[in-house]
Amino acid sequence: MITGKYPKLRLRRSRKEDWSRRLIRENTLSGSDFVLPIFLTEGKNKKNEIKSMKGVYRYSVDNLSSIIDRALKNKIPMIALFPNTNKKLKDAYGTEALNENNLVSRAIVTIKKKYKNKIGIMCDVALDPYTSHGHDGLINKNEILNDKTIKILIKQSLLQAQMGCDVIAPSDMMDGRIGEIRNELDKNGYEKIQILSYAIKYSSSFYGPFRNAIGSKNLLKGDKKTYQMDYSNVHEAIREVALDIKEGADMVMVKPGLPYIDIIKEVKNNFKIPVLAYQVSGEYSLISNAIKNKILTKDSIYETLLSFKRAGANAIISYYADYLDKILK
Ligand code: PBG
Repeated sequence: MITGKYPKLRLRRSRKEDWSRRLIRENTLSGSDFVLPIFLTEGKNKKNEIKSMKGVYRYSVDNLSSIIDRALKNKIPMIALFPNTNKKLKDAYGTEALNENNLVSRAIVTIKKKYKNKIGIMCDVALDPYTSHGHDGLINKNEILNDKTIKILIKQSLLQAQMGCDVIAPSDMMDGRIGEIRNELDKNGYEKIQILSYAIKYSSSFYGPFRNAIGSKNLLKGDKKTYQMDYSNVHEAIREVALDIKEGADMVMVKPGLPYIDIIKEVKNNFKIPVLAYQVSGEYSLISNAIKNKILTKDSIYETLLSFKRAGANAIISYYADYLDKILK
């Protein structure tokens, strides 16, 4: 609403001093706005930098205290676990996903034992860290099988819940999996475990560095276009969210982040459900490389993160969450 005009009205008046800019600020960032992704690796006392994502590391299960302590200090409410599974353990069916002694299981148990409920644990549900072909589901003659994959995903979800996972996050994009997972959890007494659906996951080239990080990049045959969404579509995204809400999702995710900022806003305008934005690996690497090469300044990190809040995201999954003490200062 415009209540006057120049020269009486001058919007620069409120921008003149820092205190005044702070006074009228509409959006801010704090530690509680973030989810910190953590990559896991086998071995003891490991902290290995990921080549495709400088500044991000893979930790062995015995070596997680430093990164989680930092997350607690920064008031981060939740971490997300991603395993780099030994190639020898990968097969066409993703069998290792159902091993109660796999990397993710051991990490959940270890973290819960030490930190109790001081921090939430979210786990991806999908088979790509475990399959020899790098796809999120079972495959038959180049077709990713929907219903047969769900049969495994519900077991993977149940296992994660049994280990102590707080938030089950299906990232596979199979049709109908949210409802099936909700049923399976409830049937087994896990009706209090939340589901965060990767409801809108576009088939994106921005996942490249992540696939490197979990060791699926060189294995992946073809692309994920028959299950992840076509990035040309908005209405379809709304349908995905509507379905997942009906099936019992507690929260939904939009992924990637920055190229899909319009979608975050669209979901927020259409549904009153918590929405998380995932600033994915390609976005992280792009910004970090530009900073390293002095093309951008470090301020670009805060600016992009804040844009998610402005668009309406309740929280942001970001690899920068491990650097909040520097970013938010
Ligand atoms: C697995 C999964 C992916 C990401 C999160 N979970 C990759 C993919 O779908 O290929 C990407 C995260 C990132 O790029 O940071 N289904």
